[in-house]
Amino acid sequence: MDWGMKNRLAQLIQPDGHCLFLPIDHGYFQGPTHKLEKPGETIKPLLPYCDALFVTRGVLRAAIDPTSTKPIILRVSGGTSMVGEDLAHEGITTSMGEAIRLNASAVGISIFVGSKYEHDSLLNLSKLVNEGEEYGIPVMAVTAVGKELEKRDARYLALSCRIAAELGARVVKTYWCENFEKVVNGCPVPVVMAGGPKVDTEREVFEFVHDGMQKGAIGVNLGRNIWQHDCPVAMIKALRAIIHENATVKEAQQIFDAESGEKK
Ligand code: 5RP
Repeated sequence: MDWGMKNRLAQLIQPDGHCLFLPIDHGYFQGPTHKLEKPGETIKPLLPYCDALFVTRGVLRAAIDPTSTKPIILRVSGGTSMVGEDLAHEGITTSMGEAIRLNASAVGISIFVGSKYEHDSLLNLSKLVNEGEEYGIPVMAVTAVGKELEKRDARYLALSCRIAAELGARVVKTYWCENFEKVVNGCPVPVVMAGGPKVDTEREVFEFVHDGMQKGAIGVNLGRNIWQHDCPVAMIKALRAIIHENATVKEAQQIFDAESGEKK
């Protein structure tokens, strides 16, 4: 691996081998997602606790202070919307030149295995990897499920993650699921977990993140269950403890309770 690629990955994955990425890219197909109407304000108190931001170029330029040194994973796929025909019909929206101009540490793209647009999305990933490797920019593949959240099972996610790795993704983002070890064990590159739509209790989040870490994930790329929570700083601090300090679910809950001033 060349120096540039190694250096960028080291900006994202911390010396303990783990990472907490904060995604705020949801608007690229969801529009002004709840609590992300003003992304700059939402993430301000969270920035010190994340290792990188996952963001489109539009929000990066509009809402992130360019003097910030927080590493950026640039979302470079899109072209669809919640109200359009098919969320899977994404293309590459942002050039590698733009990623370099924006000093991105990595680029991220969704793939839609099993969809009508599987072939296009996988070739898009391959093209991006070809360009990324040329310039030393790692590609994070996002195993997207569109509106079909029920696809989040080990068989499907293991298939998607493995294909993403085979095509050259340096990191794969997927969902936690039952038997998550099958997903991680079949994927030869690091796996990070997304959170999905907001769940009812913070404990559920701590439980699946803890389980995923025990089963080999290197961290999370987790958004809504942090920034849509009423106590987002307490959430990110508790998750950070699981990811970087090997905290148990109970310890994470204690951190959350102390920070949020609540006793659950
Ligand atoms: C949205 C994404 C998000 O980055 C990903 O889903 C993680 O966010 P969340 O934890 O809110 O699901 O790819 O397009």
